[in-house]
Amino acid sequence: LVVDASNAIGRPIPETLFGIFFEEINHAGAGGLWAELVSNRGFEAGGPNTPSNIDPWTIIGNESSIIVETDRTSCFDRNKVALRLEVLCDSEGDNICPAEGVGVYNPGFWGMNIEQGKKYKVIFYVRSTESLNLTVSLIGQSSVGNLASSTITGNAADFSNWTKKETLLVAKATDHNSRLQFTTTTKGVIWLDQVSAMPLDTYKGHGFRTELFEMLSDLKPKFIRFPGGCFVEGEWLRNAFRWKATVGPWEERPGHFGDVWMYWTDDGLGYFEFLQLAEDLGALPIWVFNNGVSHNDEVDTSVVLPLVQEALDGIEFARGDPTSKWGSLRAAMGHPEPFDLRYVAVGNEDCGKPKYQGNYLKFYHAIRSAYPDIQIISNCDGSSRPLDHPADMYDYHVYTNANDMFSRANAFDRTSRNGPKAFVSEYAVTGKDAGTGSLLAALAEAGFLIGLEKNSDVIEMVSYAPLFVNANDRRWNPDAIVFNSFQAYGTPSYWVQLFFSESSGATLLNTSLQSNSSNSVIASAITFQSSVDKKNYIRIKVVNFGTSAVNLKISLEGLEPDSLQLSGSTRTVLTSGNVMDENSFSQPRKVAPIQSRLQNVGKDLNVTIPPRSFTSFDLLKE
Ligand code: AHR
Repeated sequence: LVVDASNAIGRPIPETLFGIFFEEINHAGAGGLWAELVSNRGFEAGGPNTPSNIDPWTIIGNESSIIVETDRTSCFDRNKVALRLEVLCDSEGDNICPAEGVGVYNPGFWGMNIEQGKKYKVIFYVRSTESLNLTVSLIGQSSVGNLASSTITGNAADFSNWTKKETLLVAKATDHNSRLQFTTTTKGVIWLDQVSAMPLDTYKGHGFRTELFEMLSDLKPKFIRFPGGCFVEGEWLRNAFRWKATVGPWEERPGHFGDVWMYWTDDGLGYFEFLQLAEDLGALPIWVFNNGVSHNDEVDTSVVLPLVQEALDGIEFARGDPTSKWGSLRAAMGHPEPFDLRYVAVGNEDCGKPKYQGNYLKFYHAIRSAYPDIQIISNCDGSSRPLDHPADMYDYHVYTNANDMFSRANAFDRTSRNGPKAFVSEYAVTGKDAGTGSLLAALAEAGFLIGLEKNSDVIEMVSYAPLFVNANDRRWNPDAIVFNSFQAYGTPSYWVQLFFSESSGATLLNTSLQSNSSNSVIASAITFQSSVDKKNYIRIKVVNFGTSAVNLKISLEGLEPDSLQLSGSTRTVLTSGNVMDENSFSQPRKVAPIQSRLQNVGKDLNVTIPPRSFTSFDLLKE
């Protein structure tokens, strides 16, 4: 492998090349990155009519002690459903309540992770016909049982109207499978609505589950595409993500049923929170909006203007002046400064649908005229022939088997160097080569990414998909990060992305590879200043997709003598005993990069690249 390492030669890689794509799929947000512990907090999961669906809320007590139903008496106009608890038993008389009380509990998303010493803020809205004596508790499954509780009391007059109550619970033990419950032993009728339980220690207090946030931030993503995917489209337009329903006070958000991935979300992680997430990650937001096309229905171009206005309003919400109509709502939510929204994508995977092109042009021209600097991304693939419509970038998605993914390292070699650039916003090896996240899949993706890095004169952005999966709701395999209520690990595909975390904004060096195994070996080289120690490095990445070890001589041309330092130079290898090996909660780092110090550095390096491996050599420059 010859690397032209002279400083004069090389090509800048786009500052934005590597980022992430967050979709509300697999409970990535609700029950995932968004730290809210209560599921279906407004009791609307069955829709706005009653009886609605209270799942996963569960009744504590039997028919002779409590009647639980939904009605439409909420104080919130956009989500009228409330929970009505008619308590039939009492602390005295002939129908005595059980000692533990009657009421309801919410197990969250397959159990709440409650940890000793940590604080949880519980907020709920309550109304009552009688004096209130309501105990709010966090209950574990283990022998410890009651982890924390607080009792809310008051006269009937205090609670005859909807009243917001807030209590801070401090856990006295840890249980990863806990629940939040409301119980009473007092006869009367109580209504509950908009119940939230949030851990206090979320990232910057912004509501993101800290360890999941950190796994994202370790990737140093330069952009975040959100909130989907198919989630943006919906099976039917009525179930598509509509940003206006996800902003403002959380209590007033109606929530919606995502009918592609088949679950309810309370939309606590809404448009504002996505923009905040981008800002917290230091990543540029890329907002994908619905352009009037779902999987099964479409809005005719002649009547699409209200949706165009909705998109314009969304841009104003993100970056308008705090005195503007929608900018003022953002300011009221605590962010008077504009968010740095520079990119929007018109729809997801909709090119070819009957109304797409017509609708796209309406959005394109309206946005271009109102916000000339915003980069507009089309769903139509321009990698093999020029687009027939104006766009700043085009979306490219690929899900395929391992061999095909590896061979797609060359997919952009012949792409026109003149047209709009590619946004490879979804790629992954899927199917039996991938299982739920194999080394084989990751190596094929590594080869593909090396090809993209080399073609980064025509590729502006790249992101893997999907990002997250809650192991209790695998709607899509594989995914980059797997978690449950308290654990998380990266699949090999996650670790591959880490090898590219210094590539955005780096300089691509010319390389040429002469090898007997060149069909199964691919390499690239960059020079960069480390974001960690601010020192300058050359990073050479090599994928050996074949089944035999490869002896490689790496020749660094154009370097001044002694310009590399041995101490501080490393080799990092991702491999495993079996190419189908995967990580798991019990073995989270079975397939993970292993770093070692190099034994020698110089203008020529003789190295052995293990079979089925991904290796990077980081050579520290003087
Ligand atoms: O990443 C999973 C899905 O794959 C996305 O929602 C969609 O865009 C693609 O088909």
